[in-house]
Amino acid sequence: MRSARTTRPVSDRGRLADTDWWRQAAVYQIYPRSFADSDGNGLGDLQGVISRIPYLADLGIDAVWLGPFYPSALADGGYDVDDYRDVDPRLGTLADFDEMTARLHARRIKVIVDIVPNHTSSRHAWFREALAAPKGSPARSRYIFRDGLGPDGSQPPSDWVSLFGGPAWARVPDGQWYLHLFAPEQPDLNWDNREVRDEFLATLRFWSDRGVDGFRVDVAHGLAKNLAEPLEPISALNHIDGALPPGSHPLWDRDEVHDIYAEWRRVFNEYDPPRAAVAEAWVHSSRRPRYASPDGLGQAFNFDLLEANWNAGEFLRVITDNLSDAQRQGSSTTWVLSNHDVVRHATRYGLPPEDRHHQTARQWLLSGGTAPRLDRGLGLRRARAAILLMLALPGSAYLYQGEELGLHEVPDIPSELVQDPSYARSRGAEKGRDGCRVPLPWTADGPSFGFGAGPAHLPQPAWFGPLSVQAQERDPASTLWLYRHALRWRRALQTAESMEPMPGTNGQVLHFTRPGGWRCVTNFGPGPVPLPPGAVILTSVPFEGSQLPADTTAWLLPEQNG
Ligand code: NOJ
Repeated sequence: MRSARTTRPVSDRGRLADTDWWRQAAVYQIYPRSFADSDGNGLGDLQGVISRIPYLADLGIDAVWLGPFYPSALADGGYDVDDYRDVDPRLGTLADFDEMTARLHARRIKVIVDIVPNHTSSRHAWFREALAAPKGSPARSRYIFRDGLGPDGSQPPSDWVSLFGGPAWARVPDGQWYLHLFAPEQPDLNWDNREVRDEFLATLRFWSDRGVDGFRVDVAHGLAKNLAEPLEPISALNHIDGALPPGSHPLWDRDEVHDIYAEWRRVFNEYDPPRAAVAEAWVHSSRRPRYASPDGLGQAFNFDLLEANWNAGEFLRVITDNLSDAQRQGSSTTWVLSNHDVVRHATRYGLPPEDRHHQTARQWLLSGGTAPRLDRGLGLRRARAAILLMLALPGSAYLYQGEELGLHEVPDIPSELVQDPSYARSRGAEKGRDGCRVPLPWTADGPSFGFGAGPAHLPQPAWFGPLSVQAQERDPASTLWLYRHALRWRRALQTAESMEPMPGTNGQVLHFTRPGGWRCVTNFGPGPVPLPPGAVILTSVPFEGSQLPADTTAWLLPEQNG
């Protein structure tokens, strides 16, 4: 019987020069308020992260990306930032941040922080100043204020809708309107304003000076806007996926946004090693390379794998397209299956075939997890196969907290406890993203399953207990152990950023080699297929014989002669 081997790879030849550490890093995303709560107030915090550094080091990751930990009223899970250069007092202090960074660095784990430049929170000092200042004032010109339409200005300046539902404009007491592409508590900044640009350059230096290694840039495709009047109606824009010529949408992915990142790059390059950055830019893959350019942010999330169906052909196309795009641009590519904004991939793969916009998963969430039926076992099996495939690819792998435990989405958070603004703003047409943000289970029982001393800020289901870290640590066949083995082998085997698809890659099987003879083969089902030659070092589930079962991945090395 084959199972995840317990032998550890010994070589460390996959380590990159410090300047290029990000190119093939395994980055673990921490959603700080749901990771570990050290003081029992129900919210995860920085001392909680510090307490789990041994766990992170054992997992074998190269970096952590911390979601926003800044002061915030949590109108959007912390993406409504009150102060970009401080820590939410409920999460700790700047001294805690420095301690955390030093301790992570001591374990050779890099630190990436989230930067949220498209909007501040409505509690930010600048927005308060703007509200107190008159129409046309410099304080208002840091944001996007406009007069309303109609004789008394009581109609919004345009019919645009926010990404969370409802109008994208909100009215202030003196009758003007401000733009918020997300929640009303997230007023959009005006990036044509030099003061805004300088302020963010200072913030990048503030965190870089504190030893941060990189930045994840929120809504990177949204900063540059063309708000020349008259504003186009929404029917002409057709939102993000409109048929406008590339780069000409007034709100998204405008070419001028790259002037901003060229300035940021100059700041990153003031440091040794240069600070890294990754763009969250939901753009067409043909537009992604500019965000990932060495003269810009250097790297961009590629969400294509996350959007692909469980199908060898689709996976292969996404992989080869993204690798060739990245190579053309001189960047490395990135891979993501889950994050804090999407239904967890173990759940997506256990639902009937998906579509690009994850509608099936949305419906399932709205039904409270009852329809369509979720095949939890199948979802987890495929999730394990998918992660071994993803970790064998060249480029960086972004992992989301809890996926190493094989967690499913939590679908049945009572409506009165839902936190995601999209739920209320869509009047319940969207359930939102809380189901992947439920605090992690560290122990099999106890208050909040070891997350903290008291109840967690989102309710955890009873089925978290057997999936807790404590339970999985005792079980070498667990998903946690699979991640640990895979990350160690990956570090030992990772070399040049290339892969070669092998014959046998067809509608059912995806098989490729990496330099040095490392092979990865995934059977997307439905029946068993012969294993290629080689010594099996790791498999996503245990199996016997020389046939690779359905929904399974194996890693192989060349057989040693003699
Ligand atoms: C993208 C973040 O990932 C998401 O969580 C947030 O709601 C929006 N940006 C707005 O900041």
